[in-house]
Amino acid sequence: MAHIIKCFECHAEVDDPYVDSCPRCGGVLAIETDLDEAASLRPKDLRRRPIGVWRYAPFLPVDASHAVSLLEGGTPLYDCRALAKKAGVRSLHVKYEGANPTGSFKDRGMTVGVSRAVELGCRTVGCASTGNTSASLAAYAAKASLGCVVLLPSGKVAAGKLAQAMFYGAKVVSIDGNFDDALNVVRQLARDGTLYLLNSINPFRPEGQKTVAFEIVDQLDFDVPDRIILPVGNAGNISAVHKAMVEWKSLGWIDRIPKITGIQAAGAAPLVRAFRAGSDDFVPEGHPETVATAIRIGNPVSGKKALRALYDTKGFATDVTDDAILDAQRLLGRTEGVGVEPASAASIAGLFKLVEEGVIDSDERVVCICTGNVLKDPDTVIGNCEPIFESKASAEAVRKAIGI
Ligand code: F0G
Repeated sequence: MAHIIKCFECHAEVDDPYVDSCPRCGGVLAIETDLDEAASLRPKDLRRRPIGVWRYAPFLPVDASHAVSLLEGGTPLYDCRALAKKAGVRSLHVKYEGANPTGSFKDRGMTVGVSRAVELGCRTVGCASTGNTSASLAAYAAKASLGCVVLLPSGKVAAGKLAQAMFYGAKVVSIDGNFDDALNVVRQLARDGTLYLLNSINPFRPEGQKTVAFEIVDQLDFDVPDRIILPVGNAGNISAVHKAMVEWKSLGWIDRIPKITGIQAAGAAPLVRAFRAGSDDFVPEGHPETVATAIRIGNPVSGKKALRALYDTKGFATDVTDDAILDAQRLLGRTEGVGVEPASAASIAGLFKLVEEGVIDSDERVVCICTGNVLKDPDTVIGNCEPIFESKASAEAVRKAIGI
């Protein structure tokens, strides 16, 4: 697909493929998709291809013939009837992004981002991360034989994610600061040519992440849900979901766009505050804090895009407490057998809160995007479950220990 890089804010065209923001106004960048190729297609043409990110190649800005792929996407869309009943909505589907190759939705953006890096002839790629982006980038860089540098906030990355980044051979740097500090440093390293930046500020990343929205519609046989709820950190994903829906609506493939609803953790909720104030811009949060370390972010780079998604779709934004996140995580696991990490459970916690507040109607058909696998953060899980039973090695001792 032909593409143009443009500033999301002043709409200036950007030629330099290495800048991370608009040279004219400093705004966040976006890709303008040339939909001419796709306009000659029908949804059923795409549906002959294998499910996954590259099924939607006509909507992606990199040629599929040289894609660096680990067969990402094609994740389950679970029809969670028991949980829908508990929440009090007509239907609830959970899009289980934990089933991606490295266990999070980041793989959708990374297959496109790393393919772009290869196309540009880059040797080393890098990112700042709360964990999942680094795990994903490390894997795709390995697949593409690229050097990889990841900057992580010291002591705030869940064990599974850290293990993955180390395992795939990235140079892992623990930064004395939070994610926002790490992102500032890695942007500096990209500007001086040390590495090619693959955070979602790189507009090729959200292009891949659009496919989660395409897939949801595809899996529902083009019966568009009323609402899509997702957790928000750096705000790349929510913006990508919106862009995807706008593209398919402009082609007439869908007749309306779901209400896009973003959930933040109460200790890291700059966009929720902006939304409540009806503002197009947000005030960064200096000291973000939450058990959902994936979304422990105070200055989301795609924050303005996210606010546009909320307003344009008549969506909503709210925050949820850490306790509500952990309760929702357990409830999803124990009601539906679906294991997600804390940040992902924010979408479920948000659903329950918004039904209770009357924002979400009992007649709605809702999709929650659950972004990462439960195994990403085993320490939080173990800390929030009942203790294990200790027993001598005999049947009688086991019966006694468990009390049955
Ligand atoms: N859920 C999970 C599991 C995440 O890892 C992230 C972001 C989000 C939700 C929020 O998505 O940033 O697009 O709004 N993780 C990034 C990282 C920041 O470095 O892995 P977003």
